[in-house]
Amino acid sequence: MSDELKRRAAKRALQAVRPGMKLGLGTGSTAEHFVRLLGERIAAESLEVVCVPTSEATRNLAQEVGVPITTLEHEPALDLTVDGADEIDSQLRLIKGGGGALLREKIVASASTRMIVIADESKHVGTLGRFPLPVEVVPFGLAATRRAIVSLLGARGLSTSLELRQKGNDPFVTDNGNYIFDLKLGAIDEPERLAADLSKIPGVVEHGLFIGLCSGAVIAAPDGEEILGQ
Ligand code: A5P
Repeated sequence: MSDELKRRAAKRALQAVRPGMKLGLGTGSTAEHFVRLLGERIAAESLEVVCVPTSEATRNLAQEVGVPITTLEHEPALDLTVDGADEIDSQLRLIKGGGGALLREKIVASASTRMIVIADESKHVGTLGRFPLPVEVVPFGLAATRRAIVSLLGARGLSTSLELRQKGNDPFVTDNGNYIFDLKLGAIDEPERLAADLSKIPGVVEHGLFIGLCSGAVIAAPDGEEILGQ
């Protein structure tokens, strides 16, 4: 059911795509539906668009299904990015990075005039934070960066367990050659403040709080799609 809901959200968002658009393509299982549906529409309508993928996985998929890709070097200003999310609240604030692509996702979303999030209803939450917050860090000085994050959270009275994401027996490595800490916070009462504080830690490359980037969302439920924002 969840997969069908993801597909329906993706299909609805496809309606926002117009000929000539420069698009950002997200990462994850919901974004995958969008890329596949976009490929079908391109083939059926000879739709002319160019797309910047947010991960190597999405780049490979886009090539496989006939979606033309480019880079931010060639197209630094995009019209629309369509991406999934791990959590979205009613103010269109997001947690992203469950798939590890948060840095490129944030760069691409920031380069876009609009960002539409596509999700099934399970992602729509009252308070962000039940999903562990991904924080991408450089491998150099890992223990010191970890200590700085723990110290920051402690000073704010937040208790967390902080885990270095693993792939098998090794640390998970992002497309950018970095590592990810997943912060189990439970609830994030002040996402803006936490985002600003995390960004001040030198070893932190980026965090998964997306604030002020998402302009609209399609939330698919069994009885239909809810549209948030525009
Ligand atoms: C990738 O890094 C993430 O930000 C994904 O967009 C997010 O995890 C949603 O993925 P699913 O659509 O697979 O749930």
